[in-house]
Amino acid sequence: MLIIGNLKMYMTYEQVLNFINNFDEEVILCPSAIYIPYFLNHKYQIGIQDISMYDLGSHTGEISAKQAKELGVKYSIVGHSERRKYNKETDEEINQKILKGLENNLKIILCIGENKDENKHAVLKKQILLGLNNVENFENILIAYEPIWCIGTGVTPTNEEIETTIDFIQTTIKDNFAKNVKVLYGGSVDKDNVQKLKKIKNLSGFLIGKASTDYMQLKTIVTSLKD
Ligand code: PGA
Repeated sequence: MLIIGNLKMYMTYEQVLNFINNFDEEVILCPSAIYIPYFLNHKYQIGIQDISMYDLGSHTGEISAKQAKELGVKYSIVGHSERRKYNKETDEEINQKILKGLENNLKIILCIGENKDENKHAVLKKQILLGLNNVENFENILIAYEPIWCIGTGVTPTNEEIETTIDFIQTTIKDNFAKNVKVLYGGSVDKDNVQKLKKIKNLSGFLIGKASTDYMQLKTIVTSLKD
């Protein structure tokens, strides 16, 4: 089971130092880009929360896949729902970012997910088809299914609902790209519900936001997923 911590913009410098001094497990952590150098050279691998769709050049505030890779970053989250919403990222831009990441040998964590009032299958299908357009190297693609109504809300779908959705995602990718992909679940995963969620069939791991910023809780989650 892969455990990926999306630390978002939660931590101050002091909290980062405290985290690093107390936590060293084989997970993947995606801190704020400015803190990435502090997270290097531990048991965990590093992901970045977003990458630019451009190579290098005059793009103030952006970080390229090449820059991330050179620093030792292995993964990039792309298309997180918060970026889709607040940064108005489109599926076409997300696709460009994915292609750029793959070109630079980053593993991509593509986030997809629907809002409560949306047609789930239609939304996921569009995000998959447009997001993965022209992708060839599916070995470096992970899909994180994160229903928007479950992010930061304390609510999760039932195991059966997630299982059916994973099946839909894998079938859609098989039918359209003839490839297999690993699917992770994200949205309000914590030390209490992970015991139940880990029983989901065909699930390859978790993308964890808030709970991953608490190293004690993250250690408990790591232990729960070992047995
Ligand atoms: P959450 O966030 O675990 O805090 O709900 C998950 C995510 O947004 O990746």
